[in-house]
Amino acid sequence: MFCIKSGRLTLRDLVLDDWKLFYDLMQEPETRRYMGDYLKAETEDEAKKWVTQTMAFNNETPRHSYNLAIEFNDEAIGWIGIGEAQSEEKKDLDFGYALKKTFWGNGFMTEALQSVIKYCFDSLPIQRITGECESSNIASQKVMQKSGMNRIKTYVFKDEESGQEKEKIIFHIDKP
Ligand SMILES: CC(C)(COP(=O)(O)OP(=O)(O)OC[C@H]1O[C@@H](n2cnc3c(N)ncnc32)[C@H](O)[C@@H]1OP(=O)(O)O)[C@@H](O)C(=O)NCCC(=O)NCCS
Repeated sequence: MFCIKSGRLTLRDLVLDDWKLFYDLMQEPETRRYMGDYLKAETEDEAKKWVTQTMAFNNETPRHSYNLAIEFNDEAIGWIGIGEAQSEEKKDLDFGYALKKTFWGNGFMTEALQSVIKYCFDSLPIQRITGECESSNIASQKVMQKSGMNRIKTYVFKDEESGQEKEKIIFHIDKP
């Protein structure tokens, strides 16, 4: 199984049992608010379906995606996924992440993102990693900044659920 070890964390390929992790993540309104357009897992069945589909991306050959459970003390506490960017420069990677709320504020996601960025630049033929988050998501901005990413630009989008206009910030980091 694919696995990255960092100081406190193990990042490993998803397994079917991880549906519970995604179900739990989606029970947290703040997480659902920021992940809802990507991660649809409000019921147990949706969580199982999402994990099954996402595991299939991990199993593609050649491999373009790394959807990983974040383990701390043998417990799955979050998810980080990195894969081919859907927009602009196709050779680049972009990512998403979420952590169970009880574990927020301990530097876990910064540690996970730093490890993933290092793995990607050391092992994959890519030059740039891109990420984005809503302007209101200060924690996510900080995770990207503390991982060495630079703020590039902002854009406005229409949130399908609320119908409101919101702002997103794009960050990127180039291979050293
Ligand atoms: C974003 C998220 C993954 C961060 O995980 P985390 O492990 O708590 O992040 P870290 O502890 O590594 O860093 C968070 C930083 O933001 C800071 N922070 C958090 N909320 C903040 C706020 N409202 N205002 C200012 N700073 C804030 C923390 O203090 C910390 O900074 P510090 O190390 O300088 O003290 C987590 O909050 C989460 O899962 N959010 C919901 C899902 C989500 O937003 N995903 C990203 C979508 S783009």
